[in-house]
Amino acid sequence: MIVKTTPEYFELLNKAVAREIQVAAQYILQHSAMEKLKRKVIKENYLLDTTVYDELGELLEKMAIEEMKHLGHIMERIYLLGGEATTKPSKITIGKSLKDFMKLGEKAEEEALELYRDVLKMARSLGDDATFKLFREIYKDEEEHLLKFQEYLDIEDEVPEIENDPPESSWRKIFTPEYIKMLNKALAAEISAIVQYTNQHEKASKELHRKKKAPLEILKGTNKAAVISDMLKPIFMEEMQHMEDIAERIYEIDFEAVADVDPKPEIGEGPQDWVVLDRDAEDYAIVLYRSIIKKATELGDIKTKRMFEKILEEEEAHYWQFDDFML
Ligand SMILES: [Fe+2]
Ligand SMILES: [Fe+2]
Ligand SMILES: [Fe+2]
Ligand SMILES: [Fe+2]
Repeated sequence: MIVKTTPEYFELLNKAVAREIQVAAQYILQHSAMEKLKRKVIKENYLLDTTVYDELGELLEKMAIEEMKHLGHIMERIYLLGGEATTKPSKITIGKSLKDFMKLGEKAEEEALELYRDVLKMARSLGDDATFKLFREIYKDEEEHLLKFQEYLDIEDEVPEIENDPPESSWRKIFTPEYIKMLNKALAAEISAIVQYTNQHEKASKELHRKKKAPLEILKGTNKAAVISDMLKPIFMEEMQHMEDIAERIYEIDFEAVADVDPKPEIGEGPQDWVVLDRDAEDYAIVLYRSIIKKATELGDIKTKRMFEKILEEEEAHYWQFDDFML
């Protein structure tokens, strides 16, 4: 045992995990909305090479990546301490305008700082120095995030009049609410996979430290958990790209992304479970995306169809990678 922990301590650390999943998804989805927003809101934007939307879009993407790193570090710490990292995010709110994004960001960062002060206090009282140091680093980042959001709080963007219906056009009628629901279901599946694979990747670090048994494992300084964990990293990078692409497409056709985590991520105990559960996750995505491709073909939504065909190819490759490891 690294340090004597309490259930309250893990509860607190998991609140931090929930926050980090929330903001990572929130910022990346807001980033995905920017492209659409900038053309929709300020008409003259097409004259510019770069706009405040591009700038803040980049900023949000950069922050999302930092939050993902925080998430990984906190999850890893929880596993090393003998706990179990949650997969359930705090409530993700995307908002509709630049001003919304900045306000929601400010609120999220303030809440994070408040929570992390509690974590720091408890880590110190338990003598958990490594966690204390980790959160001190994270705290610095969140403070910077807060200050960044505050810089942009007074930004004025025109929110398109809600009463103004979009101009009549026949082809856009193909985008029915049921169809958008399917696309959001795909988005939820990507978020679920990202959370599941990140969590397992961090859980593997504990396995690596504790479960070297076979002489070859000792000789090579690695084990099955570590091999699968390495495999998960490029895969979840691809899921991140899928998530962004799907969200951008939803915004492009003038709807809103809904941030959900569905199906519920399944973590499992060790590498043997991971390959089974991850193959199932890929199987779920493949079946869902095939139905989306079918529907998109039927509706004549060629761009979405092609996008999902490309994604489907990658999910299939993921599927076989996991399948190869099953006994
Ligand atoms: Fe963070
Ligand atoms: Fe942050
Ligand atoms: Fe994916
Ligand atoms: Fe996948």
